[in-house]
Amino acid sequence: MEQEAKDITGREFVFTESDFSEIRNIILEKVGISISDHKKNMIYSRISRRIRKLGFVSFKEYIAYLKSEKGSEEVVDFINAITTNLTKFFREEHHFEHMYDESLPYCFSKNASSKRLRIWSAGCSSGMEPYTIAMVLDRFMNQNKIFGWDIKILATDIDTNMLDKGKSGIYKLGDKESIPPKYSSYYRSDEKNDEIHMSEKLKNLIFFKQLNLIEEWPMKGPFDIIFCRNVVIYFNKDTRNRIFNKYADLLPESNFLYIGHSENLYEVSHRFKLEGRTTYRKIK
Ligand SMILES: C[S@@+](CC[C@H](N)C(=O)[O-])C[C@H]1O[C@@H](n2cnc3c(N)ncnc32)[C@H](O)[C@@H]1O
Repeated sequence: MEQEAKDITGREFVFTESDFSEIRNIILEKVGISISDHKKNMIYSRISRRIRKLGFVSFKEYIAYLKSEKGSEEVVDFINAITTNLTKFFREEHHFEHMYDESLPYCFSKNASSKRLRIWSAGCSSGMEPYTIAMVLDRFMNQNKIFGWDIKILATDIDTNMLDKGKSGIYKLGDKESIPPKYSSYYRSDEKNDEIHMSEKLKNLIFFKQLNLIEEWPMKGPFDIIFCRNVVIYFNKDTRNRIFNKYADLLPESNFLYIGHSENLYEVSHRFKLEGRTTYRKIK
């Protein structure tokens, strides 16, 4: 049985060009991500973990299961296996400096009568991005003696495993390396278990929810600040176009959007003006 399961490249599971092409189509349809030709090995290794777990011997079997009624629950694990979740606290730190110096002063002054502030971390992965936002926001409020506001950070991702991690607020001890010392009061180190635990105060500010950006969005907004960084890189232009126009619909004029270091809105949306490095303001 073991021998029969090997494909011609000597790997554990049979994986043909047509399997690769089917998997790519399913990913494009369900996640919006276009997988390039050279990602064949990456797809093999990520999906083979699912195949092993389910006890199949080939990609063909797995694909048939995924498409069947019985396999509808597998779609969640399939998507979780495909997504790239790389993130860290204070990733692209210049955004958080800009947020502290520019966007928060603007939003707190603009919303002074409603005393309401909403920030969205779209594609939040394991939560380090929304926890960073929460640390910067809370420090800003303390420094400026701002109290009694209705504040929420919405953190969404397609990957349910990542959302669970975010909800737990527990990370590896080594992850604190990227948190500047002035924020050290926002977590507790548990050296014995090699963990850090984010403070309850931050956890109470963040609402983790599953959302597939290529499907319908239930929220009406408005949001004062949106982060969508390193999420849409592999989406096609039409999809990116649609998503950024929806962000523009949810942001009041002059409010802020932060995108990833390798991304830009050139030919994607004309509704934003570049304010600084990968930092935009909504114009119309
Ligand atoms: C590389 S991480 C970026 C995390 C964080 N924004 C950062 O910059 O550190 C990309 C995240 O986008 C999520 N993602 C990919 N496709 C998505 C989709 N269609 N809808 C929602 N989230 C998606 C992945 O699950 C992953 O957690």
